[in-house]
Amino acid sequence: MVLIEWNKELELGIPEIDKQHKQLVDMLNEFYTELEEGHRQEAIEHFLKNLEDYLHYHLDYEEKFMEEKGFPETEDHKRIHKLFKELYAEEKQRYLQGDPKALRELVAFAFSWLFSHIMKADKKYAEYMREKGLI
Ligand SMILES: [Fe+2]
Repeated sequence: MVLIEWNKELELGIPEIDKQHKQLVDMLNEFYTELEEGHRQEAIEHFLKNLEDYLHYHLDYEEKFMEEKGFPETEDHKRIHKLFKELYAEEKQRYLQGDPKALRELVAFAFSWLFSHIMKADKKYAEYMREKGLI
């Protein structure tokens, strides 16, 4: 099931980062596909695992990239990423303790990451780098 389509609005124009952001879209679509197919438990387990892996490799990649390019607001951006990791850890804990709201909140978090963080915070570093001729 394709619930979310990648669109140009999400594109930063940095191929490797755009590729990684597309993986977040794929992850959400895969989650809904598995849910639709009736594999609820597997869907949830995959989603939690994928999101956790993604949080680490993607955010670390982005942070290194910003540092390498000398983006002046790297520390502020890293703070937001740190909050993402903390929020994930908290929600996962709550989910494992049996709170069903935690899963919904994690899905909402993944959506807001796509439609808010990428479109605002990530675009900011991409614009800066483009202006400075760094990308
Ligand atoms: Fe980011």
